[in-house]
Amino acid sequence: MNILEALEKKVPTLPEKYRQMSMEELEERVRNVKTRMGNRLFLPGHHYQKDEVIQFADARGDSLKLAQLSAENKEAEAIIFCGVHFMAETADILTHQDQKVYLPDMRAGCSMADMANLTQTEKAWKKLMDLFHDTILPLTYVNSTAAIKAFVGKHDGATVTSSNAEKMVTWAFTQKERILFLPDQHLGRNTAYNLGIPLEHMAVWDPIKEELVYDCALEDVKVILWKGHCSVHENFTVANVHQVREQYPDMKIIVHPECRREVVALSDEAGSTNFIINTIEKAPAGSSWAIGTEMNLVKRIISEHTDKHIISLNPNMCPCLTMNRIDLPHLTWCLEAIEAGEPHNLIEVTPEIAEDAKKALDRMLSRA
Ligand code: 13P
Ligand code: SF4
Repeated sequence: MNILEALEKKVPTLPEKYRQMSMEELEERVRNVKTRMGNRLFLPGHHYQKDEVIQFADARGDSLKLAQLSAENKEAEAIIFCGVHFMAETADILTHQDQKVYLPDMRAGCSMADMANLTQTEKAWKKLMDLFHDTILPLTYVNSTAAIKAFVGKHDGATVTSSNAEKMVTWAFTQKERILFLPDQHLGRNTAYNLGIPLEHMAVWDPIKEELVYDCALEDVKVILWKGHCSVHENFTVANVHQVREQYPDMKIIVHPECRREVVALSDEAGSTNFIINTIEKAPAGSSWAIGTEMNLVKRIISEHTDKHIISLNPNMCPCLTMNRIDLPHLTWCLEAIEAGEPHNLIEVTPEIAEDAKKALDRMLSRA
Protein backbone atom coordinates (compact mmCIF):
# COMPACT_ATOMS: atom_id res chain seq x y z
CA MET A 1 0.00 0.00 0.00
CA ASN A 2 1.32 3.48 -0.75
CA ILE A 3 0.89 6.31 1.68
CA LEU A 4 -2.13 7.87 -0.08
CA GLU A 5 -3.97 4.57 0.08
CA ALA A 6 -3.08 4.30 3.78
CA LEU A 7 -4.46 7.77 4.46
CA GLU A 8 -7.66 7.07 2.55
CA LYS A 9 -8.42 4.51 5.25
CA LYS A 10 -9.20 7.50 7.52
CA VAL A 11 -6.62 7.29 10.24
CA PRO A 12 -7.20 8.96 13.62
CA THR A 13 -5.30 12.18 14.24
CA LEU A 14 -3.26 13.22 17.25
CA PRO A 15 -5.56 14.34 20.14
CA GLU A 16 -5.13 17.95 21.16
CA LYS A 17 -3.97 17.07 24.70
CA TYR A 18 -0.71 15.62 23.33
CA ARG A 19 -0.03 18.85 21.43
CA GLN A 20 -0.37 20.81 24.68
CA MET A 21 2.04 18.68 26.78
CA SER A 22 5.56 19.87 27.52
CA MET A 23 8.52 17.87 26.23
CA GLU A 24 9.34 16.89 29.83
CA GLU A 25 5.88 15.45 30.39
CA LEU A 26 5.92 13.58 27.06
CA GLU A 27 9.35 12.12 27.85
CA GLU A 28 8.22 10.97 31.25
CA ARG A 29 5.09 9.34 29.82
CA VAL A 30 7.14 7.44 27.21
CA ARG A 31 9.62 6.30 29.87
CA ASN A 32 6.76 5.12 32.08
CA VAL A 33 5.01 3.08 29.38
CA LYS A 34 8.33 1.51 28.37
CA THR A 35 9.09 0.55 31.96
CA ARG A 36 5.64 -0.87 32.59
CA MET A 37 5.50 -2.87 29.37
CA GLY A 38 9.15 -3.98 29.26
CA ASN A 39 9.94 -6.62 26.61
CA ARG A 40 6.37 -6.63 25.37
CA LEU A 41 7.37 -3.52 23.41
CA PHE A 42 10.16 -3.07 20.86
CA LEU A 43 11.03 0.32 19.36
CA PRO A 44 13.36 0.18 16.35
CA GLY A 45 14.52 3.60 15.11
CA HIS A 46 16.09 4.64 11.80
CA HIS A 47 19.15 6.89 11.97
CA TYR A 48 17.16 9.68 10.23
CA GLN A 49 14.76 10.02 13.16
CA LYS A 50 14.78 13.16 15.31
CA ASP A 51 16.74 13.13 18.59
CA GLU A 52 13.53 13.51 20.62
CA VAL A 53 12.42 10.12 19.24
CA ILE A 54 15.69 8.25 18.72
CA GLN A 55 16.58 8.66 22.42
CA PHE A 56 13.84 6.08 23.15
CA ALA A 57 14.76 3.57 20.43
CA ASP A 58 15.64 0.07 21.68
CA ALA A 59 17.75 -0.36 18.55
CA ARG A 60 19.03 2.17 16.08
CA GLY A 61 20.05 1.28 12.56
CA ASP A 62 19.95 1.69 8.82
CA SER A 63 17.30 -0.04 6.72
CA LEU A 64 19.23 -3.32 6.54
CA LYS A 65 19.92 -3.55 10.26
CA LEU A 66 16.31 -2.72 11.12
CA ALA A 67 15.03 -5.42 8.74
CA GLN A 68 17.44 -7.95 10.30
CA LEU A 69 16.36 -6.97 13.82
CA SER A 70 12.69 -7.31 12.88
CA ALA A 71 13.34 -10.82 11.60
CA GLU A 72 15.20 -11.75 14.82
CA ASN A 73 12.86 -10.28 17.44
CA LYS A 74 10.34 -12.95 18.41
CA GLU A 75 9.25 -11.76 21.85
CA ALA A 76 7.75 -8.27 21.47
CA GLU A 77 3.97 -8.18 21.15
CA ALA A 78 4.06 -4.64 19.78
CA ILE A 79 6.69 -3.13 17.50
CA ILE A 80 6.49 0.64 17.36
CA PHE A 81 8.39 1.52 14.24
CA CYS A 82 10.18 4.86 14.40
CA GLY A 83 10.84 5.30 10.71
CA VAL A 84 8.69 5.46 7.59
CA HIS A 85 5.81 3.41 6.21
CA PHE A 86 7.77 1.00 3.98
CA MET A 87 10.05 0.11 6.92
CA ALA A 88 7.07 -0.70 9.13
CA GLU A 89 5.61 -2.85 6.33
CA THR A 90 8.92 -4.73 6.10
CA ALA A 91 8.84 -5.28 9.86
CA ASP A 92 5.28 -6.62 9.62
CA ILE A 93 6.29 -9.04 6.85
CA LEU A 94 9.32 -10.31 8.77
CA THR A 95 7.79 -10.63 12.24
CA HIS A 96 5.59 -13.39 13.59
CA GLN A 97 1.84 -13.23 12.85
CA ASP A 98 1.01 -12.52 16.51
CA GLN A 99 3.36 -9.54 16.68
CA LYS A 100 1.72 -6.22 15.77
CA VAL A 101 3.55 -3.35 14.06
CA TYR A 102 2.53 0.27 14.58
CA LEU A 103 3.65 3.50 12.91
CA PRO A 104 3.19 6.47 15.29
CA ASP A 105 2.05 8.75 12.43
CA MET A 106 0.51 7.22 9.30
CA ARG A 107 1.61 10.27 7.29
CA ALA A 108 5.24 9.15 7.62
CA GLY A 109 5.56 7.89 4.05
CA CYS A 110 8.42 8.05 1.56
CA SER A 111 8.13 10.00 -1.69
CA MET A 112 10.59 7.63 -3.38
CA ALA A 113 8.57 4.53 -2.48
CA ASP A 114 5.48 6.23 -3.91
CA MET A 115 7.23 6.72 -7.29
CA ALA A 116 6.58 3.09 -8.26
CA ASN A 117 3.10 1.61 -7.94
CA LEU A 118 1.99 -1.88 -8.92
CA THR A 119 -0.03 -0.87 -11.99
CA GLN A 120 2.93 1.05 -13.41
CA THR A 121 5.27 -1.82 -12.63
CA GLU A 122 3.08 -4.44 -14.29
CA LYS A 123 2.75 -2.28 -17.40
CA ALA A 124 6.50 -1.71 -17.50
CA TRP A 125 7.22 -5.41 -17.04
CA LYS A 126 4.97 -6.34 -19.95
CA LYS A 127 6.69 -3.88 -22.28
CA LEU A 128 10.14 -4.93 -21.10
CA MET A 129 9.29 -8.62 -21.58
CA ASP A 130 8.23 -7.81 -25.15
CA LEU A 131 11.58 -6.13 -25.74
CA PHE A 132 13.95 -8.41 -23.82
CA HIS A 133 11.94 -11.62 -23.25
CA ASP A 134 12.85 -13.65 -20.17
CA THR A 135 16.28 -12.06 -19.60
CA ILE A 136 15.49 -9.63 -16.76
CA LEU A 137 15.66 -10.07 -12.99
CA PRO A 138 13.83 -7.40 -10.96
CA LEU A 139 15.50 -5.92 -7.88
CA THR A 140 13.87 -3.40 -5.62
CA TYR A 141 15.42 -1.07 -3.09
CA VAL A 142 13.68 -1.76 0.26
CA ASN A 143 12.43 1.83 -0.05
CA SER A 144 9.38 0.54 -1.93
CA THR A 145 5.85 -0.57 -1.05
CA ALA A 146 5.13 -4.15 0.01
CA ALA A 147 3.23 -4.63 -3.27
CA ILE A 148 6.38 -3.85 -5.28
CA LYS A 149 8.43 -6.20 -3.10
CA ALA A 150 5.80 -8.89 -3.74
CA PHE A 151 5.98 -8.30 -7.50
CA VAL A 152 9.76 -8.67 -7.35
CA GLY A 153 9.54 -11.77 -5.13
CA LYS A 154 7.05 -13.38 -7.52
CA HIS A 155 9.48 -12.87 -10.42
CA ASP A 156 12.44 -14.50 -8.63
CA GLY A 157 14.02 -11.18 -7.68
CA ALA A 158 15.17 -9.70 -4.39
CA THR A 159 15.24 -6.55 -2.31
CA VAL A 160 18.44 -4.55 -1.73
CA THR A 161 19.47 -1.85 0.70
CA SER A 162 22.11 0.78 0.19
CA SER A 163 24.58 -1.27 2.25
CA ASN A 164 24.31 -4.49 0.21
CA ALA A 165 23.34 -3.18 -3.24
CA GLU A 166 26.65 -4.22 -4.89
CA LYS A 167 26.39 -7.73 -3.47
CA MET A 168 22.76 -8.11 -4.62
CA VAL A 169 23.35 -6.68 -8.12
CA THR A 170 26.32 -9.05 -8.52
CA TRP A 171 24.07 -11.95 -7.48
CA ALA A 172 21.31 -10.82 -9.87
CA PHE A 173 23.70 -11.05 -12.82
CA THR A 174 24.36 -14.69 -11.93
CA GLN A 175 20.61 -15.27 -12.45
CA LYS A 176 19.78 -13.26 -15.58
CA GLU A 177 21.45 -11.23 -18.33
CA ARG A 178 19.99 -7.88 -17.26
CA ILE A 179 18.27 -6.27 -14.26
CA LEU A 180 15.35 -3.95 -13.64
CA PHE A 181 16.21 -1.76 -10.62
CA LEU A 182 13.29 -0.10 -8.76
CA PRO A 183 12.54 2.59 -7.68
CA ASP A 184 15.74 4.66 -7.17
CA GLN A 185 17.57 5.35 -10.41
CA HIS A 186 20.51 6.91 -8.55
CA LEU A 187 21.29 3.98 -6.24
CA GLY A 188 20.88 1.65 -9.23
CA ARG A 189 23.16 3.72 -11.47
CA ASN A 190 25.84 4.31 -8.81
CA THR A 191 25.89 0.62 -7.86
CA ALA A 192 26.06 -0.69 -11.42
CA TYR A 193 28.75 1.86 -12.29
CA ASN A 194 30.89 0.70 -9.34
CA LEU A 195 30.57 -2.85 -10.65
CA GLY A 196 32.05 -1.77 -14.00
CA ILE A 197 28.88 -1.47 -16.09
CA PRO A 198 29.29 1.48 -18.49
CA LEU A 199 26.71 4.28 -18.14
CA GLU A 200 25.72 3.87 -21.81
CA HIS A 201 24.59 0.33 -21.06
CA MET A 202 22.04 1.61 -18.55
CA ALA A 203 18.55 2.52 -19.76
CA VAL A 204 15.91 4.48 -17.85
CA TRP A 205 12.27 3.40 -17.66
CA ASP A 206 9.95 6.41 -17.37
CA PRO A 207 6.75 5.19 -15.66
CA ILE A 208 4.82 8.36 -16.53
CA LYS A 209 5.60 8.40 -20.27
CA GLU A 210 5.78 4.58 -20.28
CA GLU A 211 8.94 4.60 -22.35
CA LEU A 212 12.45 3.23 -22.21
CA VAL A 213 15.22 5.73 -22.81
CA TYR A 214 18.56 4.26 -23.87
CA ASP A 215 21.71 5.24 -25.70
CA CYS A 216 23.14 2.00 -27.05
CA ALA A 217 22.03 -0.98 -29.11
CA LEU A 218 19.00 -2.53 -27.41
CA GLU A 219 20.80 -5.85 -26.84
CA ASP A 220 23.57 -4.01 -24.97
CA VAL A 221 21.21 -2.70 -22.28
CA LYS A 222 22.30 -4.36 -19.03
CA VAL A 223 20.52 -2.29 -16.40
CA ILE A 224 17.04 -0.78 -16.59
CA LEU A 225 16.70 1.97 -14.00
CA TRP A 226 13.26 2.98 -12.76
CA LYS A 227 12.91 6.78 -12.98
CA GLY A 228 12.49 7.45 -9.27
CA HIS A 229 14.59 9.33 -6.77
CA CYS A 230 14.86 10.47 -3.15
CA SER A 231 13.64 14.05 -2.84
CA VAL A 232 16.09 14.60 0.02
CA HIS A 233 19.30 13.27 -1.57
CA GLU A 234 18.57 14.83 -4.97
CA ASN A 235 19.08 18.19 -3.28
CA PHE A 236 22.85 17.73 -3.17
CA THR A 237 24.28 19.29 -6.31
CA VAL A 238 27.52 19.62 -8.26
CA ALA A 239 27.46 23.33 -7.31
CA ASN A 240 27.48 22.31 -3.61
CA VAL A 241 30.57 20.17 -4.24
CA HIS A 242 32.39 23.02 -6.05
CA GLN A 243 31.51 25.44 -3.27
CA VAL A 244 32.94 23.18 -0.57
CA ARG A 245 36.09 22.50 -2.62
CA GLU A 246 36.62 26.24 -3.03
CA GLN A 247 35.89 27.20 0.58
CA TYR A 248 37.61 24.26 2.31
CA PRO A 249 40.27 22.75 -0.01
CA ASP A 250 41.27 20.08 2.58
CA MET A 251 37.74 18.97 3.40
CA LYS A 252 36.64 15.46 2.39
CA ILE A 253 33.21 14.94 0.87
CA ILE A 254 31.18 11.84 1.73
CA VAL A 255 27.72 11.18 0.28
CA HIS A 256 24.93 8.60 0.23
CA PRO A 257 24.49 6.69 -3.08
CA GLU A 258 20.92 8.03 -3.37
CA CYS A 259 22.68 11.22 -4.58
CA ARG A 260 22.98 11.83 -8.34
CA ARG A 261 25.83 10.14 -10.23
CA GLU A 262 27.62 13.48 -10.93
CA VAL A 263 27.68 14.32 -7.22
CA VAL A 264 28.91 10.85 -6.23
CA ALA A 265 31.61 11.01 -8.95
CA LEU A 266 32.98 14.29 -7.56
CA SER A 267 32.92 13.15 -3.92
CA ASP A 268 35.76 11.43 -2.06
CA GLU A 269 33.60 8.67 -0.58
CA ALA A 270 30.09 7.30 -1.12
CA GLY A 271 28.21 4.69 0.83
CA SER A 272 25.20 3.74 2.89
CA THR A 273 24.09 5.38 6.11
CA ASN A 274 26.17 2.89 8.10
CA PHE A 275 29.20 3.46 5.90
CA ILE A 276 28.96 7.22 6.49
CA ILE A 277 28.62 6.79 10.26
CA ASN A 278 31.55 4.34 10.46
CA THR A 279 33.81 6.40 8.20
CA ILE A 280 33.39 9.52 10.34
CA GLU A 281 33.79 7.41 13.49
CA LYS A 282 37.17 6.11 12.30
CA ALA A 283 38.39 9.44 10.88
CA PRO A 284 41.24 11.11 12.80
CA ALA A 285 40.55 14.00 15.18
CA GLY A 286 40.96 17.30 13.40
CA SER A 287 39.82 15.95 10.02
CA SER A 288 37.11 17.85 8.17
CA TRP A 289 34.08 16.47 6.33
CA ALA A 290 31.12 17.64 4.26
CA ILE A 291 28.33 15.07 4.43
CA GLY A 292 25.65 14.58 1.80
CA THR A 293 22.79 12.84 3.55
CA GLU A 294 19.68 13.44 5.66
CA MET A 295 19.95 16.38 8.06
CA ASN A 296 18.81 14.80 11.37
CA LEU A 297 21.65 12.32 10.95
CA VAL A 298 24.19 14.95 9.90
CA LYS A 299 23.31 17.07 12.96
CA ARG A 300 23.71 14.03 15.23
CA ILE A 301 27.08 13.13 13.70
CA ILE A 302 28.23 16.74 14.20
CA SER A 303 27.21 16.69 17.88
CA GLU A 304 28.87 13.30 18.50
CA HIS A 305 32.21 14.30 16.89
CA THR A 306 33.15 17.66 18.29
CA ASP A 307 36.84 16.85 17.62
CA LYS A 308 36.17 17.00 13.85
CA HIS A 309 34.99 19.80 11.59
CA ILE A 310 31.77 18.54 9.98
CA ILE A 311 29.23 20.37 7.83
CA SER A 312 26.35 19.46 5.53
CA LEU A 313 27.34 19.38 1.85
CA ASN A 314 24.30 21.57 1.18
CA PRO A 315 24.13 24.43 3.73
CA ASN A 316 20.38 24.88 3.08
CA MET A 317 19.46 21.24 3.63
CA CYS A 318 16.33 20.25 5.61
CA PRO A 319 15.57 16.92 7.31
CA CYS A 320 13.45 14.30 5.52
CA LEU A 321 9.99 15.74 6.15
CA THR A 322 8.23 12.39 6.29
CA MET A 323 10.77 10.87 8.70
CA ASN A 324 10.13 13.98 10.81
CA ARG A 325 6.42 13.17 11.08
CA ILE A 326 7.35 10.80 13.88
CA ASP A 327 7.71 13.12 16.83
CA LEU A 328 7.45 12.80 20.59
CA PRO A 329 3.70 13.65 20.83
CA HIS A 330 2.84 10.95 18.23
CA LEU A 331 5.13 8.42 19.89
CA THR A 332 3.56 9.07 23.32
CA TRP A 333 0.02 8.84 21.93
CA CYS A 334 0.83 5.59 20.12
CA LEU A 335 2.42 3.95 23.19
CA GLU A 336 -0.32 5.01 25.60
CA ALA A 337 -3.03 3.74 23.22
CA ILE A 338 -1.31 0.35 22.98
CA GLU A 339 -1.01 0.10 26.75
CA ALA A 340 -4.68 1.06 27.15
CA GLY A 341 -5.66 -1.74 24.75
CA GLU A 342 -6.97 0.76 22.15
CA PRO A 343 -4.19 0.78 19.58
CA HIS A 344 -4.34 2.64 16.25
CA ASN A 345 -2.02 3.04 13.26
CA LEU A 346 -1.60 -0.70 12.84
CA ILE A 347 0.48 -1.63 9.79
CA GLU A 348 -0.90 -4.79 8.22
CA VAL A 349 0.33 -6.26 4.96
CA THR A 350 -2.19 -8.71 3.49
CA PRO A 351 -1.06 -12.37 3.67
CA GLU A 352 -0.94 -12.75 -0.15
CA ILE A 353 1.33 -9.71 -0.57
CA ALA A 354 3.38 -10.62 2.50
CA GLU A 355 4.10 -14.12 1.19
CA ASP A 356 5.68 -12.94 -2.07
CA ALA A 357 7.32 -9.88 -0.52
CA LYS A 358 8.97 -12.15 2.05
CA LYS A 359 10.54 -14.20 -0.74
CA ALA A 360 12.25 -11.05 -2.02
CA LEU A 361 13.35 -10.03 1.49
CA ASP A 362 14.57 -13.53 2.39
CA ARG A 363 16.70 -13.71 -0.78
CA MET A 364 18.41 -10.55 0.45
CA LEU A 365 18.65 -11.48 4.12
CA SER A 366 20.22 -14.86 3.34
CA ARG A 367 23.00 -13.03 1.46
CA ALA A 368 23.32 -9.89 3.61
P1 13P B 1 19.71 3.32 4.31
O1 13P B 1 19.22 3.21 5.68
O2 13P B 1 19.72 2.00 3.59
O3 13P B 1 21.03 4.00 4.18
O4 13P B 1 18.64 4.20 3.47
C1 13P B 1 18.56 5.56 3.58
C2 13P B 1 17.19 6.04 3.42
O5 13P B 1 16.89 6.87 2.61
C3 13P B 1 16.16 5.51 4.29
O6 13P B 1 14.96 6.08 3.95
FE1 SF4 C 1 12.31 8.34 1.43
FE2 SF4 C 1 14.46 9.83 0.92
FE3 SF4 C 1 13.06 10.25 3.16
FE4 SF4 C 1 14.52 8.00 2.88
S1 SF4 C 1 15.30 10.11 3.01
S2 SF4 C 1 12.43 8.17 3.66
S3 SF4 C 1 14.30 7.63 0.66
S4 SF4 C 1 12.33 10.55 1.03
